[in-house]
Amino acid sequence: MTLPERLAQYHAAEGAEEYLDEYRKFHRKLSDRREHHLLDKYFLHIGKIHSALDLPCGWGRYMPYLRAQGAEVLEADYSGSMVAKVVEVFPDTPLLGRMRCFGHRIPLANRSMDLVFSMRLSHHLADPVVRREHVQELFRVADRYVIFSYFDRASLKNAIRRARTAVGLCKKRPKNTLGRAQVKSLAEEAGFRIVQDPMLFVVGSGHRLVLAERK
Ligand SMILES: C[S@@+](CC[C@H](N)C(=O)[O-])C[C@H]1O[C@@H](n2cnc3c(N)ncnc32)[C@H](O)[C@@H]1O
Repeated sequence: MTLPERLAQYHAAEGAEEYLDEYRKFHRKLSDRREHHLLDKYFLHIGKIHSALDLPCGWGRYMPYLRAQGAEVLEADYSGSMVAKVVEVFPDTPLLGRMRCFGHRIPLANRSMDLVFSMRLSHHLADPVVRREHVQELFRVADRYVIFSYFDRASLKNAIRRARTAVGLCKKRPKNTLGRAQVKSLAEEAGFRIVQDPMLFVVGSGHRLVLAERK
């Protein structure tokens, strides 16, 4: 589960506002551009989609992009303030719906969404069991495609964090990671294959962005 204090922060109105402000910063604009570049390539492979679950949606950063791929979009997040923010930032935009839920307990039927999209949640999930359940839920609800990000255990950034922590140079919590082989086997167990899973940035980021399709 996301740490309670972090969840409460996101759920509060100020937390949603702060996250919107983040994307006015240069480094966020850079990662945003790189994410879009990868996603453009993924949608060349995918083509049109009919429906997409955007979980966590945050303030709806990806909602217009998913709509542009032909999808009716269901916006979902644990934070009520984030879910509310979507219609404030994008008024009069037709949506399939909005809801509050946890990323590892999605109240939707098996294979009910064409695409399930989960950007920047996994690394918030502090409990490894919840981290695994989140990925399993994405595959359960997706009919054809899953796109999600996670923090790679074998990334340079994680190796540096671990080394610094081991010699007492870093007091931060360990990163919330997944193994690449673990993700591959979760995909296979669910009947999916990983099409691509590049690093967002090889240096400076430990995130991978996965595109998986049902076999
Ligand atoms: C870093 S933001 C990412 C939002 C959006 N996907 C984006 O890329 O702009 C993380 C989001 O996850 C939500 N969140 C955190 N823990 C969650 C959980 N366990 N289940 C569902 N949403 C959660 C937060 O409220 C926040 O909106």
